[in-house]
Amino acid sequence: MDPQKLANFWMCSCLLFVTLLVSSVSFPAGEVHYHEFVIQARPVKRLCRTHSTITVNGQFPGPTLAVRDGDSLVITAINRARYNVTLHWHGIRQLRNPWADGPEYVTQCPIQPGGTYTYRFTIQSQEGTLWWHAHSKWLRATVYGALIIFPRWGLHYPFPMPKREFPILLGEWWDGNPMDVLKQALFTGAAPNVSDAYTINGQPGDLYRCSSKGTAVFPVLPGETILLRIINAALNQELFFSVANHQMTVVGVDAAYTRPFATNVIMIGPGQTTNVLITANQAAGRYYMAARAYQTAQNAAFDNTTTTAILQYILASGSSGKGQSSRPILPRLPAYNDTATATAFTSSLRSPWKIKVPTQIDENLFFTVGLGLINCSNPNSPRCQGPNGTRFAASMNNVSFVFPRTNSLMQAYYQGIPGVFTTDFPPVPPIQFDYTGNVSRGLWQPVKATKLYKLKFGSRVQIILQDTSIVSTEDHPIHLHGYSFAVIGAGFGNFNPRNDPAKFNLIDPPVRNTIGTPPGGWVAIRFVADNPGVWLMHCHIDSHLVWGLAMSFLVENGVGELQSVIPPPLDLPRC
Ligand code: C2O
Repeated sequence: MDPQKLANFWMCSCLLFVTLLVSSVSFPAGEVHYHEFVIQARPVKRLCRTHSTITVNGQFPGPTLAVRDGDSLVITAINRARYNVTLHWHGIRQLRNPWADGPEYVTQCPIQPGGTYTYRFTIQSQEGTLWWHAHSKWLRATVYGALIIFPRWGLHYPFPMPKREFPILLGEWWDGNPMDVLKQALFTGAAPNVSDAYTINGQPGDLYRCSSKGTAVFPVLPGETILLRIINAALNQELFFSVANHQMTVVGVDAAYTRPFATNVIMIGPGQTTNVLITANQAAGRYYMAARAYQTAQNAAFDNTTTTAILQYILASGSSGKGQSSRPILPRLPAYNDTATATAFTSSLRSPWKIKVPTQIDENLFFTVGLGLINCSNPNSPRCQGPNGTRFAASMNNVSFVFPRTNSLMQAYYQGIPGVFTTDFPPVPPIQFDYTGNVSRGLWQPVKATKLYKLKFGSRVQIILQDTSIVSTEDHPIHLHGYSFAVIGAGFGNFNPRNDPAKFNLIDPPVRNTIGTPPGGWVAIRFVADNPGVWLMHCHIDSHLVWGLAMSFLVENGVGELQSVIPPPLDLPRC
């Protein structure tokens, strides 16, 4: 080998060695997790009765996915149920990869009975608690599970390492088939039947009939600090959650850390997650954790029951503390309509550090969100059983979102198929009115359409989500797919563009993927549209979603491959 070649050789191998060293030390390649999710009906007994329940791998709730930031997931969904199904990884950013997001008819056609689809995605700079759920009709009532993202190897939580961690999945159970409950409601136009129980990790708990045996128990050693990863997987209900005699320290929401603060109760909307630390500093014994409704709509039926699980102290001997057989103490939960407590909780959330919030805004959007009623030519007929013989609807900026049937929005966009959607979603309400006042009946009926709003890649977006008093004011938990956003402000009444922006928190606002509108109020969010694709934004109350409380953003590709949607996988289902 001549000296020059030799020198090159050494330089190359040395560089290679250094690169390998650096990459293995500070940028370890993520692990790849392979899973098979078989969606299948299985007998599940709750509230004294057995139902044929749609599950994943026969488990209810479904399997917990535990990964690290930087890892990849390859999940093959095999549909052995009798319904169309899709799976959604709630809160995962899916950068440039809408194909793995999952909402049916938005980013993919559903997986038909007998079909399969493999979801492939990578966790990119996210840590905390997320979850996964079916995103077709009401299947997510039973098809859901936790998705836990630990820090990369060698990195740590920004708080002392808890001794134990438990996912706490709050759910909603119908003593019947939830798909039939939905079917009936969509036929009659009336509100769907409310659930018969709430659940913690799939179990209603001691306060319901035939439920004591299954009640979830969480063991703890005296003095330990544990982490609860609370997920509201309920279909239609905001919930209060509390643990008897134990304060909670909130340390994260929606896979983003928060500045720690202590509280006796949390309010959590469908779709949201909240991480709390609890220290077992009470007399050894058994303590209930409990959840029940935070109900904001007026004159609406709701499930007013209470679900419980048990925090149980374990003594060093292995036996549990005194009071093993006596009944655990129940925590005091706020009144169902305690908006003051809910507001105090959500307004305490801050990021633990300064957040990059866009200060220049390219897209200043104002969306009304709320219910509506469709008038019937034949009021009170079998299909018009809603209020005053109408049919329920819901809308954003008076557009009641209609999901396409023949293709998904993303496929239609990517393949240039016309006639599936239009891009004229209005940036502001088509008519201005006193949104939270006494709204004239003429403004109660939305227009049904499939309208998207186009965003240039990289545009800086602000959205004011304004609740309306049409039918009723209400807390609507609005979820944006493909993004996290900064929640920079909120208030009651109508948003006032003259005074309210001065109060925005552009320093350390919480970052989340789902935020509730205060009932009869507004909330302001900001994000940078740096993820190309079609992304659904919707109310995570599933009864409102099926009534049309949704819209979609079409974020265009930027410049070059790294700012463009990746090609679709070959097994993407066809409609
Ligand atoms: Cu948690 Cu569109 O979903």
